[in-house]
Amino acid sequence: MDKLIVQGGGGPLKGNIRVSGAKNAALPILMACLLAEGKVELENVPRLRDIHTSLKLLDILGCETTFDGNSVTSEATNLVPEAPYELVKTMRASVLCLGPLLARLCEARVALPGGCAIGARPVDLHLKGMERMGAEFELTEGYIKGYCKGRLKGAHITFDFPTVGGTENLLMAASLAEGETILENAAREPEVSDLANFLNAMGAKISGHGTSVIRVEGVEKLTGCSYKVMPDRIEAGTYMCAAVMTDGELLIEDCPYHELDAVAYKLREMGAWLEERDGGVLVRRDGPLVGTDITTQPYPGFPTDMQAQLMSVMCVAEGAGSIEEKIFENRFMHVQELARLGADIRLNGRTAMIRGGKPLRGAPVMASDLRASASLVLAGLVAEGKTEISRIYHLDRGYENIEAKLSGVGANIWREKE
Ligand code: UD1
Repeated sequence: MDKLIVQGGGGPLKGNIRVSGAKNAALPILMACLLAEGKVELENVPRLRDIHTSLKLLDILGCETTFDGNSVTSEATNLVPEAPYELVKTMRASVLCLGPLLARLCEARVALPGGCAIGARPVDLHLKGMERMGAEFELTEGYIKGYCKGRLKGAHITFDFPTVGGTENLLMAASLAEGETILENAAREPEVSDLANFLNAMGAKISGHGTSVIRVEGVEKLTGCSYKVMPDRIEAGTYMCAAVMTDGELLIEDCPYHELDAVAYKLREMGAWLEERDGGVLVRRDGPLVGTDITTQPYPGFPTDMQAQLMSVMCVAEGAGSIEEKIFENRFMHVQELARLGADIRLNGRTAMIRGGKPLRGAPVMASDLRASASLVLAGLVAEGKTEISRIYHLDRGYENIEAKLSGVGANIWREKE
């Protein structure tokens, strides 16, 4: 197993840093390849562990795929309806093959993803939605077994909660359904819109994506196409934090700035300067950093996937700050690890109170999930001495070449075998 070593206190990060394709857009888009008759060509696909897992899953489900640089091709040649537990347990997003398989084969057997480090994360809303479209499900031997008699039928579905994965699964299912589907209280995340744009490029008839009411006019078939995946807003936001924490200046290239409004707003409140310039976004401090209060919300609110990174910023800011986590019930595992570096954070249910400005000192820490790992890298950059982060396979699920990218702007960070 690899670990990351961050030699902190190395001074400000300066220079240009490029954002990769969005993991959370690429994953559903890869699953949507199951829907196409013909060859799909994708650009800007990040080379990440979750992407390799998705390609393995597509292979098992009967697609022929290639992955060369950041380009993927996929051709669904001989579809098979079963997603095995061995793959699903390593990546929850595998459950996104359920909608496409039902739409194309009228049957699907997908292992139930189970719990994960950041909470229970059920898939009941995905299943309820597909039931409204005529699918039937049974849960046996750890598998979701789904059937439908003939094509899925368009339906009017109102989500109890604007679930990202649920909206994506239903968008894919509805694209090949008979008649119109209306999704209300749908997720508005930019990655949902990227999936909808991709489906439209394959011939789907989706409108309203990016709002909470999405309309899908089902079509009989979807064809191959070429598509470029959007850049990763969470990766970009993480580099924004790195710039202000180290009192540096980064030009973030390929930055989906307008999809980061809530993050930019909070960073400005804390003392950051952000400006669109030269094809990127320039980020630096505009004075001393001060604490703020954050509540995570579905998009366009503050993203839960940036909560841990902002906590690290608050650790080095003057004064107190708070973070309330409203999306996942157990997403504060980084608190104990940040405390090992000297941070002063108190947890009260779903709220963390941070007293900033305490000196951070390097220590061995453990990554518990993807975004928690990023918060530890950020804290390591400014901690005095050496921070050793173990279990960085979490980081490799979501950040392409993070140590090379950060080294390129002056960080002292490298990977070692444990
Ligand atoms: C996606 C993102 C993840 C991000 C999250 C919230 C991907 C691959 N992952 O996860 O990085 O943190 O959105 O922005 O895109 N819920 C239910 N029943 C369901 C579905 C969800 O109760 O059927 C609950 C979940 O337990 C959670 C909340 O709804 O508490 C949000 O989940 P959801 O929006 O579905 O997140 P994911 O799609 O799993």
